[in-house]
Amino acid sequence: MEQQYDFGLIGLGVMGRNFILNVADNGFTAFGNDLDPEKVNALKEEGGDLTKVNASTEVDTFVGSLSRPRKIMMLVPAGKIVDSVIEGLLPHLDEGDILIDGGNSFFTDTDRRETYLQEKGIHFFGAGVSGGAKGARKGPSIMPGGSQAGYAAVQPIFEAVSAKYEGEPCVAYLGPKSAGNYVKMVHNGIEYGLMQLTSELYDVLKKGGGFDNDELHKTFKNWNEGRLASFLVEITSEIFEQEDEFGNGRLVDQILDKAKQKGTGKWTSQNAMDLGIPVPSIDIAVSMRELSALKEERIKADTLYDRPKVNRMDKTSLEKMAEEALYFSFIITYAQGLHQLADASKEYGYDLDIATIAKIWRAGCIIRAGLLADITEAFRADASLPNLLVSPSFIDKVKATVGSARELVAYGAKNGIPLPGLSNCLTYFDAYTSSRLPLNLIQAQRDYFGSHTYERLDREGIFHTEWEE
Ligand code: 6PG
Repeated sequence: MEQQYDFGLIGLGVMGRNFILNVADNGFTAFGNDLDPEKVNALKEEGGDLTKVNASTEVDTFVGSLSRPRKIMMLVPAGKIVDSVIEGLLPHLDEGDILIDGGNSFFTDTDRRETYLQEKGIHFFGAGVSGGAKGARKGPSIMPGGSQAGYAAVQPIFEAVSAKYEGEPCVAYLGPKSAGNYVKMVHNGIEYGLMQLTSELYDVLKKGGGFDNDELHKTFKNWNEGRLASFLVEITSEIFEQEDEFGNGRLVDQILDKAKQKGTGKWTSQNAMDLGIPVPSIDIAVSMRELSALKEERIKADTLYDRPKVNRMDKTSLEKMAEEALYFSFIITYAQGLHQLADASKEYGYDLDIATIAKIWRAGCIIRAGLLADITEAFRADASLPNLLVSPSFIDKVKATVGSARELVAYGAKNGIPLPGLSNCLTYFDAYTSSRLPLNLIQAQRDYFGSHTYERLDREGIFHTEWEE
């Protein structure tokens, strides 16, 4: 009998190839599949030993090479491709086989696929995989949900290949149905928020403090050694050092300022609107990518208006203020994303444990940060915390840094440096911590023009007033 491999992977792009090599490094045999013979051959060559890692372009050879129940993961682009891969596989699968979607699929697609495959006796589940190409190779954070029986079968493999934080694997079963894809979607929303904030702080240090690339590199490097330690701050410091291969100074200065997106941040924002949960840090991060894409319009508009002359700030005090503001706004962004997860858990019946999610984000994923250890502790202390901002362990952290966020937002406004992410975080904080907001006026207006009624502070009931009289 031909050799039977422990794990199968479909989609041998850079993520898939790296993931399967990681599986093999951890003592499991793995078989890959891709329509592209070049990718199949590249994997075989890189794997070196065909008894450990093998691959084929043929689906029947692929499926026939896997031990039963078969454990197959797809790492292919989200959307119709996932459905067509499933259709191609189905005739070859048997009841009890396990199929995993490791891509960034939209969560309702995962629900639909789970129902469809359940009827055919296949254990299907979505598992978000974060950490980019390097993470897939060396240890990603993995966010599985859906079929618990299916997950149990691959748990030893996932725990072995995942990143480790103080020895603990950055993977855990998160909840039923599309819980895994949903959590990964919000992870990406938070990722968008943190990236937007980092770019704003870069802008203010550069324009407001005159920091050159070497100074930016040093500043972000220092920050990464303190409470802002995180993957995104770390790579940001390295980005400032990268020379341009065409000899035009540093590469960062030659990169077109139009940010692309594949949609997961937008989905997070759209779904937060559906749930009625405010996530302005994520909303604005999506909007800024859209605004950045309007490069030609921006160039024209730039010639129509004067910008205030920037009043330079002292480098040392700006650096301190910026560090505090970034820390404050990172907290607010995680707070918003986690708030959305808690609400989605109720709405969709995911039964999520926020401490577990924060725990598996501490290493491997793009939003990994020292802060996540504190967040894990905060939710371990109180699993039903409505918002990180009311956690006793976060109050002092926020109090100590909000002042700098205020000063920096005011500075940006006065000097024409756009800081929409930072100012949104501040506004969210000011509004969330206000017992009285001016939205009584909105209720009055609604009742005035549309008899939409209002409630009162001083008595129970629903009221309407004939305002014009
Ligand atoms: C990860 C990332 C990854 C995502 C990229 C690109 O966790 O490894 O979130 O899944 O695809 O970050 O996303 P955008 O193209 O939308 O920026």
